[in-house]
Amino acid sequence: MNTTSSTRTSVIFRGYRPDDLKACARLAKEAFPYGRGTSGKDEGEMTMKGYVESSLLYSTWSEVACIGDAVVGFLFGRIEKTWKGRSRMRTLLVELSMTARFLLRNPLMLARSFGLMWNVWITELKLAEHRPRSDAEIELLIVDSKNRGEGIGKDLVDRFITAAKEAGAEVVTLYSEDLQSNYQFYEKYGFRRVATFYDDVTSYFANKASTAIIYALDLKQSTDTERQ
Ligand SMILES: CC(C)(COP(=O)(O)OP(=O)(O)OC[C@H]1O[C@@H](n2cnc3c(N)ncnc32)[C@H](O)[C@@H]1OP(=O)(O)O)[C@@H](O)C(=O)NCCC(=O)NCCS
Repeated sequence: MNTTSSTRTSVIFRGYRPDDLKACARLAKEAFPYGRGTSGKDEGEMTMKGYVESSLLYSTWSEVACIGDAVVGFLFGRIEKTWKGRSRMRTLLVELSMTARFLLRNPLMLARSFGLMWNVWITELKLAEHRPRSDAEIELLIVDSKNRGEGIGKDLVDRFITAAKEAGAEVVTLYSEDLQSNYQFYEKYGFRRVATFYDDVTSYFANKASTAIIYALDLKQSTDTERQ
């Protein structure tokens, strides 16, 4: 992953570093403000750090966009061909132990979290059922609300798509939802909707019905279109 400037000279793209966790968690909290199942600033921050860290566990691509020293956006994703033998079972075990450490820190949180964990697992099962076969996946994409509309989200996705194509990937998929996410961005980008279903985890967090949307982008087709 190279460090490069975009056409806006002030935005730099570089690989994620562990000390970016706090900034990424802040952006995630701002983008996804619903917090049922957590209360208080510390719990909210811990939940978002856990969310960001667990997305990272399944990612082979993790890049941040910076203006000066400030992280203003990030994209985490997975390109199967660059997974390079990382064991999925080991990743799952690390995630389970992270979750256990997180929950055991606070017994109150443990009690509150049963509802959350149940809904997370139901959503994971539905995702496994509805997601088409793909060899690349966008896990998490967020741009600071103060910097939206400046092309940073598009640059982050362009850079991921370029890396996926270079690695020989043919289809990129992602999961979004209709309550908190600016999912229309992906439609503008050329992703097409391949499945929708009741989103248990977002509905739980927001206390309001939400629909999950699975998107796919056929890289062979977009390469063919570019060639024409
Ligand atoms: C989605 C998100 C990453 C877009 O980032 P951004 O930096 O504002 O997007 P860009 O400025 O690169 O926009 C690229 C194009 O998409 C369009 N676009 C951006 N957000 C859009 C939206 N909500 N609806 C429709 N089009 C949108 C822009 O108009 C632009 O079009 P153009 O090239 O014709 O000018 C940002 O809104 C965000 O972080 N949202 C909260 C988290 C989220 O929804 N993440 C993605 C789903 S999980």
